[in-house]
Amino acid sequence: MTTSTARRPKVIKGMEHLAVPKDEILLKATGVKKYFPVSRGFSLFGGKANLKAVDDVSFEIRAGETFGLVGESGCGKTTTAKMVLNLDKPTAGDITFEGKTVLKMDSAVRQNFRTNVQAVFQDPWSSLNPRMRVRSIVGEPMEIATTMTKQQITARVGELLTEVGLNPYQANLYPHEFSGGQRQRIGIARALALSPKLVVLDEPVSALDVSIRAQIMNLLVDLQKQHGLAYLLIAHNLATVRYMCHRVGVMYLGKIVEMGDTDPLFDDPLHPYTRALISAALPSHPDIKREEIILPGEVPSPINPPSGCTFNPRCPVKIGAVCEEMKPVLAEEKSRHRVSCHLYEKSKKAAEDVAKAAAAAPAVPSTNGAKQA
Ligand SMILES: Nc1ncnc2c1ncn2[C@@H]1O[C@H](COP(=O)(O)OP(=O)(O)OP(=O)(O)O)[C@@H](O)[C@H]1O
Ligand code: SF4
Ligand SMILES: [Mg+2]
Repeated sequence: MTTSTARRPKVIKGMEHLAVPKDEILLKATGVKKYFPVSRGFSLFGGKANLKAVDDVSFEIRAGETFGLVGESGCGKTTTAKMVLNLDKPTAGDITFEGKTVLKMDSAVRQNFRTNVQAVFQDPWSSLNPRMRVRSIVGEPMEIATTMTKQQITARVGELLTEVGLNPYQANLYPHEFSGGQRQRIGIARALALSPKLVVLDEPVSALDVSIRAQIMNLLVDLQKQHGLAYLLIAHNLATVRYMCHRVGVMYLGKIVEMGDTDPLFDDPLHPYTRALISAALPSHPDIKREEIILPGEVPSPINPPSGCTFNPRCPVKIGAVCEEMKPVLAEEKSRHRVSCHLYEKSKKAAEDVAKAAAAAPAVPSTNGAKQA
């Protein structure tokens, strides 16, 4: 079991409603990449290229902690979630659960992983089999993975439905007999059936009516407190992330560009992209003044990302050539707050060290994509 005190999560001001995470690292992603081979165009001679959906991402999730991944559509959040769930293999890097790699598991490790890592997806309608009664939907993981008797499973399904705010008699109904929020509760009950340690939540409330979202978010926060669950929360919505997460990673074009404890990151964002994202979100009170930062242009293609800092064509505070030529490093700028941007001295120094090392090394052909026009 891996433990570390270097980045121990702690409850800080503004997060009192959340459970206190433990020190134990449950899941660790190190240098994870996912490149999809895609054809360059319709021409027969277009050739193949790599779409860099996730490009060198590292993070840890501790027991009882919610780590959020936030960023614009297409930045690689779901691809990261799929690799954490072992539904997709990384092109490079490693993912460990309780200190053991999930990329090559023997049957005992796989069994432990399948029991302890579960998922809740965005659309509760398509993720539940419409032909199965709720009893079978929620009971199925126990039928497959345990030696529980039928009566024990029925009793446990009743308990789980009660826990997620439904009634045990509703076990006899089909998914279409529920509202969207209730269906998401069924999905959560199924995810909890095997008493997991980590639940991956991919946009768990974004398909729901605004009035229902807060109820499901509170349910997830309460379940975390009761069971010591860890969550990997994927979301577009910054309010959801701010309310539910202990720590956050901001993704842009397949990379984490900023990572830190939720409140300090939202109160004092360092990366120009994070600043723009937060400035574009609605303020929590109409009297709060904000200056919206409008980013120019579109998110560049992950097939041919810009050289240097991939945010450089849209960055409102770009320093100069260094941003186009040198990849910034995700480095610690403040305590527990890391950022990948040349504006910050430590990051700049690290980038300069990389450049010096590269200049001293024998020349090799570049693999760093062409510069954005
Ligand atoms: N199987 C695949 N083959 C090729 N490209 C893929 C595949 N899956 C995802 N991608 C691409 O990888 C990139 C990241 O996709 P991903 O679904 O992870 O984004 P996302 O951040 O979850 O977006 P959203 O917020 O819209 O759900 C996108 O450019 C997407 O088109
Ligand atoms: S490295 Fe340069 S281009 Fe990238 S975010 Fe920082 S200032 Fe902007
Ligand atoms: Mg997604």
